[in-house]
Amino acid sequence: LGLKKEVNVLCLGLDNSGKTTIINQLKPSNAQAQDIVPTIGFSIEKFKTSSLSFTVFDMSGQGRYRNLWEHYYKEGQAIIFVIDSADKLRMVVAKEELDTLLNHPDVKHRRIPILFFANKMDVRDSLSSVKVSQLLCLENIKDKPWHICATNALKGEGLQEGVDWLQDQIK
Ligand code: GTP
Ligand code: MG
Repeated sequence: LGLKKEVNVLCLGLDNSGKTTIINQLKPSNAQAQDIVPTIGFSIEKFKTSSLSFTVFDMSGQGRYRNLWEHYYKEGQAIIFVIDSADKLRMVVAKEELDTLLNHPDVKHRRIPILFFANKMDVRDSLSSVKVSQLLCLENIKDKPWHICATNALKGEGLQEGVDWLQDQIK
């Protein structure tokens, strides 16, 4: 009674994509931070859904910290990968990091669900989630369940749909 299954989630993606803003929105309002600053290293956060208790490794996306990501792959039971849909110049960098992730021995042969958030959909001229999906070649991911949602983390729009999908994959 009241016991929820514990799940470790890795939140990955380039710096400034909105990872911390998204995780903050998923926390209960009395636990939400007012000011969000670039993550140094990583931060461990928690939030709950109806059936699950998530522990999130909110990793820094800055280049100098990206080598930390792989140390947590083994513990991750799900991945949230965040993309800044307005950052067209760095879409190729996001794809490189995603491909490196997918080819890592601790990820490659596991059926680990990946939730993609095509974030910042509120920004004028941002790419649609379909376009982001094409640029990242998500259709090539055949051995893992994945899902992409367009989100506006500032308003929390689109996040629930993604978390509902993730919950369905795990429970
Ligand atoms: P690192 O910790 O450096 O890896 O970055 P991050 O991915 O955690 O990004 P963070 O949540 O710190 O957000 C970066 C900036 O983008 C902040 O100024 C946020 O307010 C802004 N931001 C996040 N989500 C959105 C969004 O959906 N729309 C808009 N317009 N801005 C957003
Ligand atoms: Mg952050």
